[in-house]
Amino acid sequence: MPADSSSLPGHGQTVCVTGAGGFIASWIVKLLLDRGYSVKGTVRNPDDPKNAHLRALEGADERLTLCKADLLDYQSLREAISGCQGVFHTASPVTDDPEQMVEPAVEGTKNVINAAAEAKVRRVVFTSSIGAVYMDPNRSPDTVVDESCWSDLEFCKNTKNWYCYGKTVAEQAAWEMAKEKEVDVVVVNPVLVLGPLLQSTINASIIHILKYLTGSAKTYANSVQAYIHVKDVALSHILVFENPSAAGRYLCAESVLHRGEVVEILAKLFPDYPVPTKCSDEKNPRAKAYKFSCQKLKDLGLEFTPAKQCLYETVTSLQEKGHLALPASKQQEEPIKIQSS
Ligand SMILES: NC(=O)c1ccc[n+]([C@@H]2O[C@H](COP(=O)([O-])OP(=O)(O)OC[C@H]3O[C@@H](n4cnc5c(N)ncnc54)[C@H](OP(=O)(O)O)[C@@H]3O)[C@@H](O)[C@H]2O)c1
Repeated sequence: MPADSSSLPGHGQTVCVTGAGGFIASWIVKLLLDRGYSVKGTVRNPDDPKNAHLRALEGADERLTLCKADLLDYQSLREAISGCQGVFHTASPVTDDPEQMVEPAVEGTKNVINAAAEAKVRRVVFTSSIGAVYMDPNRSPDTVVDESCWSDLEFCKNTKNWYCYGKTVAEQAAWEMAKEKEVDVVVVNPVLVLGPLLQSTINASIIHILKYLTGSAKTYANSVQAYIHVKDVALSHILVFENPSAAGRYLCAESVLHRGEVVEILAKLFPDYPVPTKCSDEKNPRAKAYKFSCQKLKDLGLEFTPAKQCLYETVTSLQEKGHLALPASKQQEEPIKIQSS
């Protein structure tokens, strides 16, 4: 932070980030503080040690306030959002349990936009997901996945993909509420997010990689997945907030990889871990990557971190945070203690 912070884009502005202690939101808070914003971060329990990393961020002492709020408690959100010029609505359950997923995702989003309307905020940036974009069995393999694509709710329900169902209904609710309450809403749709953790706990998308290093996954699936670096996701949120002409949805993806490519990269970068080498499906042809376009974010100036770098930083962060033991060959040998007689 330069000595004269008044030249920073966020100087003098207060914004709210919901679910501030989460993987993506922690990075949004960090980048907002770096850009001079004052931040009101909502957490369910400000005293929980899992949120301690937020208070350690540069600028947090002067410009971060943690507010206790639950997505289903309108009053708590109203208090957190009052006095803010912007809201980053990132909090959401990340689960396939329909009971835990759908209501907080959908009602929570309505509550946030309602509270934002009351507070007359300039813009709400809503963290949606690729889950609200690509779950469509009728899409042709040649279709380029972009912001015009929507997941099919019946298909999500029938395949019990309650996370994608909840995120799709939540995003639809966000657009309806934005129109009804005349709130400026912009949406970011990230694909699976990887990269260094700021928080001490492990979130769902990181487990996707951890399982390939601990020996718990013996094989890899015959499927593809799109990836994005967490810092690029956080920066996308800020770009669409700060750019007055930003509007609509922004798909946020760097590349689509087959699981076979992921394990190959991991095994090359970290040869000492028991990374699986066999596919669980040896009958069917190898699943093909889908095409996608993130031209809208590129037009705003975002430069995407390559997936290989993303995987490298994910693993080294897991090691640094103590979630993944260093391979035996890299561990410092304990000096042998010789007992004096
Ligand atoms: N990670 C990905 O690959 C990915 C990809 C696309 C989209 N997204 C979206 O990005 C957002 C953040 O995901 P993440 O990966 O950062 O997950 P995360 O680390 O699990 O963070 C989720 C946050 O939401 C909060 N939350 C959950 N239920 C809540 C409730 N009822 N009231 C208040 N807060 C609640 C959690 O608070 P507690 O700490 O109190 O539980 C947590 O801070 C979500 O909207 C997710 O759908 C994630």
